[in-house]
Amino acid sequence: MSCLDWEAVKIVKISEAIFGDSSSQYTSLYVLCFGAPPYQEKFTHDDVMKLAKEKWFTPNSSIFALVDVSTGQVYSYLVAYNLEHEEKVFKAIKDNIDEPQNYLYVAEILTAPEWRGNGFAACLVNKLKEEYPDTNMIVRTTEKNVASKNLFLKSGFSFLDGTKEYVSQRRLGDAPVKDKRIFMVRRSLH
Ligand SMILES: CC(C)(COP(=O)(O)OP(=O)(O)OC[C@H]1O[C@@H](n2cnc3c(N)ncnc32)[C@H](O)[C@@H]1OP(=O)(O)O)[C@@H](O)C(=O)NCCC(=O)NCCS
Repeated sequence: MSCLDWEAVKIVKISEAIFGDSSSQYTSLYVLCFGAPPYQEKFTHDDVMKLAKEKWFTPNSSIFALVDVSTGQVYSYLVAYNLEHEEKVFKAIKDNIDEPQNYLYVAEILTAPEWRGNGFAACLVNKLKEEYPDTNMIVRTTEKNVASKNLFLKSGFSFLDGTKEYVSQRRLGDAPVKDKRIFMVRRSLH
């Protein structure tokens, strides 16, 4: 069953104005999802608003959300923009890919915990592929993020070799957890 078989759940392209009207839903979901394992990052509402302001609405960016149009509830969303706007990632992989300036970077993808496993994230990645059929895509995830790795493998991405960076991100718990950054790529067929 596809997520679009859910009667009231639709994919919506989120403009800055729509985001502004319901930003707390997007920021709360972000704080919740990335505050949990494997990330356990200490984001606040203001951190996410800053991110959104600086990066999510750059030229050619896209935000797609799965929204219950009868209630306005946001279940899942994806943010993508040109790789050139993500300087650290751009620098980390520019020697491993051709024409890095032509890549779309999947910067964020998240599904509310209680709605996971319904194909929502896969549905949003498919929407992105439909919107940008001729564009290469890149995503950064971590070794311990099995759900994310499987999601992107299933969506036609593969691992990009030659990028091994160990990270210990800000953690809410006592012990910093070491993880490995990995990059996944989807090359367009054209
Ligand atoms: C990663 C995430 C977005 C997946 O969202 P989702 O809506 O539950 O994903 P889907 O239901 O569309 O799953 C698609 C595929 O991903 C894989 N997958 C999803 N959750 C998984 C899990 N817990 N374990 C293993 N594989 C998983 C599966 O291959 C699945 O396909 P299948 O159901 O046919 O086996 C969600 O777990 C999340 O929000 N995590 C926290 C934020 C995050 O880590 N984002 C990724 C940053 S790169």
